[in-house]
Amino acid sequence: MQKLQLTLAIIKPHAVKNPVALSYIRQVIKNKFIVVKTKRVSLDKEAASNFYKEHMGKFFYNRLVTFMASGCIDLHIMGHANAVELWRKLLGPTSVYKGQFQEPYCLRGMFGISDTRNVAHGSDSSTSAEREIKFFFPDFSFYEWHEFSEEYYR
Ligand code: PPS
Repeated sequence: MQKLQLTLAIIKPHAVKNPVALSYIRQVIKNKFIVVKTKRVSLDKEAASNFYKEHMGKFFYNRLVTFMASGCIDLHIMGHANAVELWRKLLGPTSVYKGQFQEPYCLRGMFGISDTRNVAHGSDSSTSAEREIKFFFPDFSFYEWHEFSEEYYR
């Protein structure tokens, strides 16, 4: 049976502060996905380091953590038959430079400033999405979501 997949979008601080980028991104999300839950949070450095711990040791780690703790971020749990891939496709490549040349109309191509300030995060698999959703939404009911997802295609 076909199921709706979940992904987590994190709109990064520079995009949250840019009203044009933010309203455009919200419109894209609303048009393409079932928006399951949304919230705005700000991370301290400890929470940001924890979230990005798989990148610990990489040259950009401190820069990424400091940036993600520098302002509010918007979180969207989103559903779609192909949520993970679709959101990453809409975002475009991690490298804003590549995005601007290869896919100028991707979100990162349009609103990205650097490889760190690259507009938004997207889970890279269903397993990562589940872990990331649990990180930010510890009370999220995957059971209720699966029930909804089955009903959706009935
Ligand atoms: S990697 O290198 O394959 O792990 O990259 P990726 O999974 O695409 O990116 C993970 C996050 O690291 C940030 N990143 C960078 N920041 C600064 N400089 C460079 N070169 C760089 N490469 C990757 C990138 O913004 C990703 O953050 P999220 O929040 O996951 O999008």
